[in-house]
Amino acid sequence: MQELNVSLSADSPDRPRLPNSPRLVLGIETSCDETAAALVDEHGVVRSSVVSSQVPIHVRYGGVVPELASRNHLVAIRPVIEEALATAGVELDQVAAIAVTAGPGLAGCLLVGMQVAKAIAFARGLPLVLVDHIQAHVWAPYLSDGDLADAAGGAKSLTYPYVALAVSGGHTSILRVDGPGRATTLGATLDDAAGEAFDKIAKLMGLPYPGGIYIDQLSETGNAEAYELPRPLMNKGLDFSFSGLKTAARLVWEKASTVPGADVERVRADLAASVQAAIVEVLVDKSLRACREFGIAQLVAAGGVACNRGLRKRLVEKAARQKIRVRIAPARYCSDNAAMIAGLGGALLAEGASLSGAALLGADIYVTSRKRAS
Ligand code: KG4
Ligand code: ZN
Repeated sequence: MQELNVSLSADSPDRPRLPNSPRLVLGIETSCDETAAALVDEHGVVRSSVVSSQVPIHVRYGGVVPELASRNHLVAIRPVIEEALATAGVELDQVAAIAVTAGPGLAGCLLVGMQVAKAIAFARGLPLVLVDHIQAHVWAPYLSDGDLADAAGGAKSLTYPYVALAVSGGHTSILRVDGPGRATTLGATLDDAAGEAFDKIAKLMGLPYPGGIYIDQLSETGNAEAYELPRPLMNKGLDFSFSGLKTAARLVWEKASTVPGADVERVRADLAASVQAAIVEVLVDKSLRACREFGIAQLVAAGGVACNRGLRKRLVEKAARQKIRVRIAPARYCSDNAAMIAGLGGALLAEGASLSGAALLGADIYVTSRKRAS
């Protein structure tokens, strides 16, 4: 492994900061296949956000290989933290707290970030904030790059409570968010996550991993009405189910792409567009229904699937007709990143939610989501 220059010392150094400079939180994220570190100030302004993606490592297996992912976090974590500090132009001495993803995620992956975070916090005498990955995704629209457009259009105008659609490769849920880290689940997928459905259907059509973005791109040229696909649980509650859609798409693909003389490229584009339309329709319909049911006129979409252009467009259009305001973080803060961890960590720190000293020893990871509203 490379020798790197993150200097750790056992004492608790002075942390110089200009009288009016905001406190900085170092965020660390290693829950799946992105090694990420970021520096975010207490106002949610991102000073640096570094993401090292392992996609090139997992692509040939068609999905994330947990053991490979954790080993690669071990290799990447120190350079990534160093780059985040260097980009922000700060030393560890100027950091006020460490925030780390404690769960949910892959156990071996979470452990890497957790151990590094605990070690830095312990060695530097810094408070450690444990952050939930999903809570951080739905908090992400509060992040700002510090420019005026951000402050006017997005983060600052979002107030609690709001409804959030959290859609990623591992999770799909609708939540009610009452404060930083206080999102409760109103509905969730009963089987596959939306991103997982995108990725699995992309894979069966011969597209690379992770396939969500390829389906998004192909949808531009495909006919969304070419194939009739199910909208699972469409008018039933706030839970989701995507495994039936996956099976339906597989049957269409196997039949349509093997017909003698089939234009396989056309079938692929049309099926991509039809699949995207089905997933987007269900996600949008249920999110807006949750807003109506709970009388909340603000909706956040978060997680990697919130990068989907079809979803962003339809959500904004349909919400506007119902006078619901939609907030979606820029794509770089929708897919996995550490800025959302540092940002929510800072908000929780302000509320006194941190560990320090001997209590750090008890900090632990968890692998599955824990909360659901009754
Ligand atoms: O939040 P994220 O980066 O990681 C997890 O926590 O899972 O989400 C990754 C997921 C993958 O399934 C990926 O295919 C999907 O987000 N994704 C997309 C798009 N960009 C990323 N799905 C549909 N359209 C996109 N443009
Ligand atoms: Zn995620």
